[in-house]
Order: sequence, then structure tokens, then C-alpha cells
Amino acid sequence: MKPATAATTSLRQAGVIGWPVAHSRSPTIHRYWLRKHGLAGSYDPIPVEPERIAGFLRSFASSGFVGANVTIPHKEAALAAVAHATPAASAIGAVNTLWLEDGRLHGANTDAEGFLANLDQIAPGWDGAGGPAVVLGAGGAARAIIVALRGRGVLPIAVVNRTRERAASLAERFGDHITAHDWSELPALLGTARLLVNTTSLGMAGQPPLAIDLRPLPAGALVTDIVYTPLETPLLASARARGLRTVDGLGMLLHQAVPGFELWFGVRPEVTPELRAAVVATLGAHK
Ligand code: ATR
Repeated sequence: MKPATAATTSLRQAGVIGWPVAHSRSPTIHRYWLRKHGLAGSYDPIPVEPERIAGFLRSFASSGFVGANVTIPHKEAALAAVAHATPAASAIGAVNTLWLEDGRLHGANTDAEGFLANLDQIAPGWDGAGGPAVVLGAGGAARAIIVALRGRGVLPIAVVNRTRERAASLAERFGDHITAHDWSELPALLGTARLLVNTTSLGMAGQPPLAIDLRPLPAGALVTDIVYTPLETPLLASARARGLRTVDGLGMLLHQAVPGFELWFGVRPEVTPELRAAVVATLGAHK
């Protein structure tokens, strides 16, 4: 899609496709930016049942939307549906941002760049000394974070997962310097880690906490979590109590939204404390 100009932004409609999608914070983010930049576009939740997603995406060009975000459980279906995927989307195996270009559906995955932009903003220079990094989990979020870290040369990456085969398949998929491990190996891996990333759902409100002993981590290590409900997960709280640097997961959500907004509405928006506060206000008891 040619980036929109201010004169063409009226009536541009975008949204987030998911099932369920009512919980998504993306409307809060994009509506904040639309208001801030005085643009006439719209951004709404687009609930699409799994049985309807393939057909919905096939006819996306005539849906009236200029583009959309894609969330659970449709990110893989979106990759399968696009005429063109960015290298990051192909590598991650999922699309979270759609746009139309010359009538054809294009897809990107902005989770990797969102993850990096968040760390760059909150902990500048975090990648200066490279790895080793320890990534907990082996799902879609882990794939995005491995692509991000590998792209920055933050290697080696140890992928630690309850189901070892899933970690092994990521190690095979992403190649050299990426290894698969059981939870039992964690203490030894933490001993030399510069970065620890949680990509599992553990620690999220309603889930069991991620109870790991952070004592082996070196004093200069950075700990980050992709969970943002609560903002300070038990993992981050225990890292902070140990005096380690921490970065919460909300910034990744905010930063991954930037490229889509620019594609659909023609203005590259910023992730500011005001935006963050607007989204934090929607977290209710999970602040
Ligand atoms: P996503 O695509 O959002 O990353 P996912 O594919 O469901 O979600 O992956 C969730 C991750 O959290 C997985 O690594 C999962 O471990 P398994 O591969 O063994 O299922 C991990 N996870 C979820 N609940 C867990 C638990 N109770 N203990 C340990 N790991 C857990």
C-alpha cells in the first residue's frame, strides 16, 4: 500500500482480526494515535470465527478495510492467505499486520521489531555485548523473539521449554547458535546469560506464576517478559528484588503497532508515556 497522505486519510478503516477479540488493546492504541494526529480513520475489533477466516481474508480487498492487525488464533492463517509476506513474517511463520498494495494482500510480522524497539527505548545499549540469551517457551512468541535476537546478533540463544521437542524444532528451524533445553538445565544456562526473556503464558493473570530461581543470573543481566497483565509479573518482581534491570512487556505491544498505523494512515506515530498511560488505564486490576 502506498503510504496514505493526510488528504486521503478520511474514511480509512482498519481494525484487529481475532477470535475472541474484545479483549484486544489494539483499538485503544490506534484510536489514541488517530485522535492525536487529527485523522479521520477508524480502527475496530473485527471478530472472525476460525471457520470463516480463510474466506474473510480471500475477500479482504472488497471488505472496505485498508488493512488490519491479526491476533490469536489467526496469525498463521493470515500468512497462508497473503500474496506477499515480509521476510520476518516468513521466518516467524505468522502475520500480524495486513495491508493492500495494488489490490493484493500483503503481510508483515512486526512482533520482532516491536520487541527490539521496546528494549532499545527502555534499556538503550542492552544488546551492546551480545548474548548469551535464554528464551523461555517455544510457541509463536518465541519464534518472533528468536528472529529479533538473531537479527541483532544477540547469540547464542538457549531455548528452554517444557516440551523439549518444540524447542528442538525451533533450534533446527533457526539454525546455528540456537540450542534446545529442558527446564532442568536452566540454572546452568542462567549462570552466563546476559538476557532472559519469558515468552510463555506463565505469570499472566489467571495462570500459574513463573517460579524460577534467578540467583544464578549475572548482576548485569536484563530480564524481560512478554506478559503485560500484570505489568510487573512475578518474574520481573523477583528480578527487580535482585537488583537486575527489567523491561515489562507492554512496550512490545505498543511498538509492534507502529508500522501498521503508518501503512494505513500515513503518519509514523510515536510510543510516548501518554500512550502507555492510556493503555495502562485499560488494564484494570492488572496494573
Ligand atoms: P504463543 O504462540 O502465544 O507463544 P503457545 O504456542 O501456546 O503460545 O506457547 C505457549 C508457551 O508457553 C509454550 O512454550 C508452552 O510450553 P509447551 O510447549 O510445553 O506447551 C509454555 N507453557 C504454557 N503453560 C506452561 C506451563 N504450565 N508450564 C511450562 N510451560 C508452559
